Amino acid sequence: MAALDSPARRDLLMHGPVLHVTGARPNFPKAAPVIRGLDALGVDQVLVHTGQHYDDRMSEVFFRELDLPRPDLNLGVGSASHAAQTARLMVELETVLLDRAPSLVVVYGDVNSTAAAAMVAAKLQQPLAHVEAGLRSFDLSMPEEINRMVTDRLSALLLCTSADAIAHLAREGADPASIHLVGNPMIDTLLASMDRFDVERARREHALEGRYAVATLHRPGNVDNPEDIAALVAAMHSVADQVPVVLPLHPRGRGRLREGGLFDHPGMRIVDPLGYLDFMGLVRGADLVVTDSGGVQEETTVLGVPCLTLRPNTERPVTITHGTNRLVTRENLAAATAETLAAGRPETWDVPPLWDGRAGERIASVIAGFLEEH
Ligand code: UD1
Ligand code: UDP
Repeated sequence: MAALDSPARRDLLMHGPVLHVTGARPNFPKAAPVIRGLDALGVDQVLVHTGQHYDDRMSEVFFRELDLPRPDLNLGVGSASHAAQTARLMVELETVLLDRAPSLVVVYGDVNSTAAAAMVAAKLQQPLAHVEAGLRSFDLSMPEEINRMVTDRLSALLLCTSADAIAHLAREGADPASIHLVGNPMIDTLLASMDRFDVERARREHALEGRYAVATLHRPGNVDNPEDIAALVAAMHSVADQVPVVLPLHPRGRGRLREGGLFDHPGMRIVDPLGYLDFMGLVRGADLVVTDSGGVQEETTVLGVPCLTLRPNTERPVTITHGTNRLVTRENLAAATAETLAAGRPETWDVPPLWDGRAGERIASVIAGFLEEH
């Protein structure tokens, strides 16, 4: 869409900024292209960081590495139980949304910051846009599934990464006019950063020769229950028996996994969470990824890296139908690893429609249209 003409732009500025709510690691690579797209249209914006994630490697590093402006506000909400964290988020966000009177609140993905912002905006009758709307695992034991449903139900703009999301929203009765297939802004960030993913550097950093795997683990369903840790550790060690595994370990469950013996295998290289560029440099060169992350399923799909997702379901089935992803269990992970290593990396692979690096522009265009209309 062309830049807004000046009367329309003046009108937008009179009606308050577009306010983005971010707070957890996966939010940042999704928000960056949307903010850029709106910037190109001259839209006034405010970036709020809730402080849900706060370690340098879970937050700050993304602002250093990605084309992302400094947050206008950091609410410093931090960690707590779901109820306590959500309550703190809502209290802090209510003050901000009242003060800034945005013309639109934009939220990303499925974290607690997303759902809290959605509830606050809805009760203040401020319109809401949800980036990555409509994904469903149909697994209510995942806190993210609750966050997705709440956020979608309250959103005036449902911005979808894949066609399955549109079908879910339609079935749930969303207004078809509010649903837009826009592509995947996480993949915009991936494609825009591609020439900064340095596989050779990653190999040197982690002393990797030959084939290697990358792993991430942080889902409560995998790492929270002490009774499951021994089986998880055995499954991860069965991968490390076959190929060196670099595992940048999320803070959630770190202590339990260490005590459970995860670190005690010569093939496991467990490090702190990595910055985005280092992490993607490693993933790009990997022969195999084992993960329970949402974003990593998508990134491996685009990079053509085989991905074994250690979960009973995925809200991103397009990464299986169009991509390199496969669901595995602790029990079949060893066999799946052997099969994947034997097959090697694919020479050609599909990428889901519109995962083309232009989702941020499309989202900006939909948002600008919405602002002009309202
Ligand atoms: C959150 C999201 C999850 C997302 C993940 C991405 C929710 C409900 N979950 O999970 O969907 O996949 O982020 O990484 O929003 N911690 C630190 N340092 C930090 C942040 C957290 O040490 O910077 C530790 C704390 O002990 C905290 C725990 O990690 O209690 C969990 O953090 P929290 O934000 O509640 O959820 P995540 O597991 O990170
Ligand atoms: N990521 C990173 N460093 C790491 C692990 C992950 O930069 O050590 C990036 C990666 O791009 C991933 C994103 O952070 O897609 C979100 O990760 P996470 O798995 O925490 O969240 P989810 O997508 O599961 O909600």
